[in-house]
Amino acid sequence: MCGIFGIVSNQKSINIGKIALESIRRLEYRGYDSCGILSQYNSKLFVKKDAGKIDDIHKKLKLDEFPNGSKLALAHTRWATHGSPTKINSHPHLDCEDKIAVIHNGIIENFIELKKELLSKGHFFKSETDTEIIPHLIEENMKTNKNLKEAVANAIKKCKGAYGLAICHADYPDTIIVVRRESPLIVGIEEGKTTYCASDIPAFLPYTRNCYILEDNEMAILKAGTAEFYDINDCDNPKQKEIQLIKWSIDAAEKGGYEHFMLKEIYEEPSALRRTLKIPNDSLNKFAEIILSAERIYITAAGTSFYAALAGKFIITKFLGKYIEAIECSEFKTQLINSLEENSIIIAISQSGETIDLIEAVRWAKEYRPSAKIISITNIVGSTLTRHSDNIIITQAGPEIGVAATKTYVTQVLTFALIALEIAKLTKNESQEEIQKYYNALYSTPEIIEKFFEKNVELIKYIVRNLEKNLNFFFLARGISIATAKEGGLKLKEVACRFVEGYSAAHAKHGPISLIREGYPIIFIAPPDETYERLIGNLMEFKSRGGTIISLVVEDDDKITNLSDTTIRIPQPGDKYHNLFSPITFIPALQLLAYYAALEHNLDPDKPLNLAKTVTVH
Ligand code: G6P
Repeated sequence: MCGIFGIVSNQKSINIGKIALESIRRLEYRGYDSCGILSQYNSKLFVKKDAGKIDDIHKKLKLDEFPNGSKLALAHTRWATHGSPTKINSHPHLDCEDKIAVIHNGIIENFIELKKELLSKGHFFKSETDTEIIPHLIEENMKTNKNLKEAVANAIKKCKGAYGLAICHADYPDTIIVVRRESPLIVGIEEGKTTYCASDIPAFLPYTRNCYILEDNEMAILKAGTAEFYDINDCDNPKQKEIQLIKWSIDAAEKGGYEHFMLKEIYEEPSALRRTLKIPNDSLNKFAEIILSAERIYITAAGTSFYAALAGKFIITKFLGKYIEAIECSEFKTQLINSLEENSIIIAISQSGETIDLIEAVRWAKEYRPSAKIISITNIVGSTLTRHSDNIIITQAGPEIGVAATKTYVTQVLTFALIALEIAKLTKNESQEEIQKYYNALYSTPEIIEKFFEKNVELIKYIVRNLEKNLNFFFLARGISIATAKEGGLKLKEVACRFVEGYSAAHAKHGPISLIREGYPIIFIAPPDETYERLIGNLMEFKSRGGTIISLVVEDDDKITNLSDTTIRIPQPGDKYHNLFSPITFIPALQLLAYYAALEHNLDPDKPLNLAKTVTVH
């Protein structure tokens, strides 16, 4: 989620600061709430860092100006996870003596225990980050063993979690050490001259196309123009690694080889879900307790986040057994001005945490009912919403660049599901065994989506080609899948400029059905839940009037499959556990449909007409 970059060179005329600055600019899409650059010269580390966007910080601090003759630099652009986006929390982080510097992409899960241990040994910390424990752990190891490579390896072996790390030491003028586990790390080489490391290839692509991709638990010692690789558990025997030649353009490389950010972000959904599944239990539990204690509960949001709220409301009420109202944030005040009660709980949900109508809604609620509690789910640490909230949960989607929200939607619904299961644990209305089955279904969501991607993309492209001439669509569903119909429909509107009515299949007979003529396309979202049999009835109403029926069903579906012109099969079981989480596993099909429909109509899916990623006007 953060971007890291390092360079070590022996070239006399090299401007290390300029290269580091340009390189993290190319990584800014990975995170942009703070940044920092460090250079090493004459056994000293020079650090410039602050909160804000790279260009703003550069104006203040001249990020490209470091001592002449410096041949080593580390640079970082941050996406805050632990600790708000402030100067102190920006990377690099240093040890007590300001000798060892670390930049990090990932999360050290056991940092609280490690920090306690280090504090008891006399180390002092400046930041709230998980990262800062690493330079101190290395410092501690170097007290007994002066070998930097071994000290790094021993320190890292104590850390649990995910990391792409670049490390340097003031007394080792020509060395960067990199280590990787779960977070990406790539080494680029200009043979005999300069070596680079980065969390993504575009960072060094203007300088070299030769690179090594680190695997989990690998470490590399980088010196000017060379790199030596080791297994973290065997630092004595260097490993052979194969060099790779990168053929992408810089633009393609930023998108990880995908043509558009939207497509990249759809394909990132499994990893975004896996990260979100690791949200600490105590914050989920806190939310569950607050929700359980409330008399009146509202969820409020805009756009895609509102549709996540509709799915979330459904999942939470199943275990809560209490009514929750979901209200679009732009209507929140108008609808509740006469009825918002004392001690209400407002769950505010927003990818950006900056949508102005949402900020206004929560501000108004707090002013009007100071006893109301705002608990928020957002993707952005330090956003305005977090500052107006009593409690927050950060979804772990990572930066989303495509204007149409995709991976953030699935992580929002997953977060609601995780809160719902915490509620189930507290109410004890369901047995432990039953709750575990829901968890198992939830844990299988990333894999289901991966399997879906493996088999279905050509089918989606085929459907898009067949529907090329259609300007209007219905996306119909019942129960929880109405959220999927609305969100899937929104995607097609946003990026492919088609009109879609995402609607209740039952309610559609009260008016919308009058539009149906021969060939009118209707997409039915049809997991085999308690609404399935009735949905068949609705499907027949549309089929008998000439509608072209495309259905989203589970793998072994037969009834709806036999009635449909085309089916898209989601590779998951049709049991009640998986059905409850179908808003997560069914939506990628509709996101891909929208994406390929945009391409079919020569539209840029990353830049939909008239839309903005973050709406800060009323
Ligand atoms: C805009 C974006 C949508 C987004 C909505 C809410 O309309 O184009 O993609 O869903 O704002 O944004 P939020 O950041 O609050 O989730």
